[in-house]
Amino acid sequence: MKIFITRLIPEAGIKILKNAGIEFDQWSERRDVPQDDLIKICQRYEGLISVGQDNIDKKFLNACKHLKVIAQMAVGYDNIDIPEATKLKIPIGNTPGVLSSATADTAFLLMLAVSRKAFFMHQKIINNEWGFYEPTENLGIELHNKTLGIFGLGKIGFEMAKRCAKAFGMKIIYHNRSNNILAEKELNAKRVSFDELLLQSDVLSVHTALTAETKGVFNIDAFSKMKRNAIFINTARGAIHNETDLIKVLDEKMIWGAGLDVTNPEPMRADNKLLQMPNVAVLPHIGSATEETRNAMATLAAENIDAASKGKRLLHAVNPEVFG
Ligand code: GLV
Repeated sequence: MKIFITRLIPEAGIKILKNAGIEFDQWSERRDVPQDDLIKICQRYEGLISVGQDNIDKKFLNACKHLKVIAQMAVGYDNIDIPEATKLKIPIGNTPGVLSSATADTAFLLMLAVSRKAFFMHQKIINNEWGFYEPTENLGIELHNKTLGIFGLGKIGFEMAKRCAKAFGMKIIYHNRSNNILAEKELNAKRVSFDELLLQSDVLSVHTALTAETKGVFNIDAFSKMKRNAIFINTARGAIHNETDLIKVLDEKMIWGAGLDVTNPEPMRADNKLLQMPNVAVLPHIGSATEETRNAMATLAAENIDAASKGKRLLHAVNPEVFG
C-alpha cells in the first residue's frame, strides 16, 4: 500500500510504516494542504493519514472514493463526514485512549492557571509591571472541595475528574447521554441534567465531541445560569462555546474565568480580547502535545494503516460498520 500523510509525524509512526513495507509521502510545507491539492495528490495513493483539521467532506470523499483507509491522527473527527465515508465503505480510524492523560493534564493546567491568574501575572513580569506588593490585589480562588462539572464524561473527562477528585477532593458531577458507571463507582460521580451542571459547577470542563448537538451549547443562555465564581474550561473543540458570549459574560463578571485550549477559529488572533483578561488562560490547542502522547498517536495511526493494508479491521475505527 502507498499512503499520503498531511503533516510530518513522529518517528514512531514512520518506523511502523517502514517495517510494514508501506510506502508513504509526507506534506512538509508549514501550511495546511488546500483541499483541491489534497484531492489531486490522493489520486496517486490508496490510503491517507490525516493530521490536523483536513476538510474530509462529501466533496473530498467522493473525489477520493478509491481510498482504502483514512487514519486520523487525532481522537476527534468532526472534520470528516463519517456518514458519507461509511456510505462509500471507507474505513476511518482515529486515536482514542492514548491522549486522554495528556489532554486531561492540559485541562487541569488551565483550571489552575485561571484560578490563580497565572498567565496574566506572568505577562505582568514580562511587561515590567511586577510592582508594589498589595495584599488585596490579584487574588485567585481556591479549588479544594469545590464541585467539578464535566460536560461529556468519556475517557478524557474521566482523567480530568480523577485529577480533580484526588488533588483537591472535588465533588464530581457530569452531564452525558448515558451513565459512566466507572466514574460513578471510582469517583462517586453523579449524573445531572445540563441545567444542574450549569447551576452547580464551580469548575465546568468540556470534554465532549463537536457534533450538531454540542455546537454552540455554551452560549449566553448557558453561561447566564453558571455561578458568578465559576471557571469554564474547554479543551475539546472551540465551536462548542460561543466566543462572543464568553467575552460578554467575562466582561460583565457573570462567571469568574475561563481556560481554553481550543478556540474558534484556530489560530486565535493576537488582538483577541480574551488574551487581555486577567482571569483567562489560552493555549494554542496543545492538549495532546507531549512526546509520549504524540508518539503513541502516530503509532496508532500507522497501525490502523497497517491493518487496512492487510485487509484487516482497524484497531480503532470510527465507522466499524464498513467491515460488515
Ligand atoms: C485533538 O484535538 C484531537 O482530536 O486529538
